[in-house]
Amino acid sequence: MTASDKSFSYESFTGRGIDVASVRADDLDKLSLEYFSKKNTAKVLDLGCGAGGQALRMAVAGVCVLAVDAGDFKDIFENYRTKASLFSDKLAFVRGDIRNLPDLIVEREFSDIYMQRTLHYLTYIQALELLKYLYKVSTDRLYISVSGMASDIGNDYLGRTLSIESRFVSLDAKNAETFQIFEPVCLYSQAEFVSLLELAGWRVLRCWQSAFGNHKAICSH
Ligand SMILES: C[S@@+](CC[C@H](N)C(=O)[O-])C[C@H]1O[C@@H](n2cnc3c(N)ncnc32)[C@H](O)[C@@H]1O
Repeated sequence: MTASDKSFSYESFTGRGIDVASVRADDLDKLSLEYFSKKNTAKVLDLGCGAGGQALRMAVAGVCVLAVDAGDFKDIFENYRTKASLFSDKLAFVRGDIRNLPDLIVEREFSDIYMQRTLHYLTYIQALELLKYLYKVSTDRLYISVSGMASDIGNDYLGRTLSIESRFVSLDAKNAETFQIFEPVCLYSQAEFVSLLELAGWRVLRCWQSAFGNHKAICSH
């Protein structure tokens, strides 16, 4: 079973951007899947999982996945488990705010972390705190992406002139509607993103900008 069996279209479930992973796998998804599925015992924390497109792909490939999102995706995950004959130790969903991650989940040991299109919904300081915590509770890699200042979301973005520490600004009404983003965001330049990851302790193996101006990175311990 794949996420596309459920025929999602490009939509926003929570007013925090389009859920792309439930429709298609991008290069970061494919690279992470290739890496995780080669391990015997990968246990991956998927933050901002949305409707679980990548979580399902990982679980079907034999990875144990704990997926977290502020939206209510409990029934969708239940449906995935039933259709793919997976138990909840292979594919679990927890609803909650990743800014409170240490209080939200009891597990403290993961092999890897996966977090696509979500970090910019946190302030820079919250992002730094979370990334430090993720470093502590994992042993191997982090696959992560963030919306870039050079993306279309960055057009007319009022946070552009603010320092990264105070850059947390809502999009104007037109862009909010276009991109289905109704929460403040902190957009990053590539240099800011790399510096944030390194400050949190991660070793950045590779960072690149997508055709849409977003930043993707693969990091290790
Ligand atoms: C653009 S969607 C990305 C979904 C999927 N990871 C993907 O790549 O397509 C962003 C997701 O992050 C979640 N999110 C944003 N801020 C969050 C927070 N503070 N706590 C938990 N989830 C959050 C939203 O609910 C949403 O499902």
